[in-house]
Amino acid sequence: MLTSAKMRLTSEQVTKYDRDGFLVLESFAEKSACDRLRERAEQLVLEFDPAGLVSVFSTQEQSHLRDDYFLGSGDKIRFFFEEDAFLPDGNLKQSKERSINKIGHALHELDPVFSEFSKTTAIKQLVADLGIENPLLVQSMYIFKQPRIGGEVTCHQDSAFLYTDPIDIAGLWFALEDATTENGCLWAIPGGHKEGLKSRWRRDSDGRMGFEVFDPAPFPDERLVPLEVSQGTLIVLHGLLPHRSLANRSPKSRHAYTLHAVGGNSHYPEDNWLQRPAEMPFRGFD
Ligand code: FE2
Repeated sequence: MLTSAKMRLTSEQVTKYDRDGFLVLESFAEKSACDRLRERAEQLVLEFDPAGLVSVFSTQEQSHLRDDYFLGSGDKIRFFFEEDAFLPDGNLKQSKERSINKIGHALHELDPVFSEFSKTTAIKQLVADLGIENPLLVQSMYIFKQPRIGGEVTCHQDSAFLYTDPIDIAGLWFALEDATTENGCLWAIPGGHKEGLKSRWRRDSDGRMGFEVFDPAPFPDERLVPLEVSQGTLIVLHGLLPHRSLANRSPKSRHAYTLHAVGGNSHYPEDNWLQRPAEMPFRGFD
């Protein structure tokens, strides 16, 4: 992690974040810290038994089970497959280790290695410097972006999925491997966070998730710029910043770890998808 001398954001960096909606901090995490997360994720996948889940993910008819598996993952460590991971007969095309899309969404609470990485003084200080008061770490994901089958994540705003009133959230995206246009790096629209929230994914009165659309115009993809970064770089993303990553068709993986911090003084609505049970409320850096 950062040395103490580099721990605080400069006023230029804060200005840049306000202007662009993202900030690229090279060498934020040491190589050893990145490798430790990669090894831990590998171990978690090895210990994961996909029996029973493969059928849930591989057939269209099971979409409600797939939805329940996702929507119930806010307080758990769950494993999600790549869409291209399955053969027509429902079997995996390749090994389990090469088929996982991501692990989410409470790694930072439940796994000691991820918790240690997520709750460092450096990250706590960074979140404070971004102006997020009484931060709560609501979500963590380990994203594999597997070689050849790593799927596209279409252009979106994180506040559409983790809404707060007022908008008060930062996404922290740690490159655990070099990320390039070849293996599916992030792309973002500089300044796009100033153009409002386009939609919100919320739970309706029947408990079903759906998009409430405020602005039906598509994101201006022609304004997306690639954010190619080396291992250890932290990209900070404003909740309203449109961003995406393309499919990875290369032979190289593109592992990343993401953490989302929201301001504890803001309202976190009950119709957001990600909820915690009373016995496991959102926590900060404690
Ligand atoms: Fe995102």
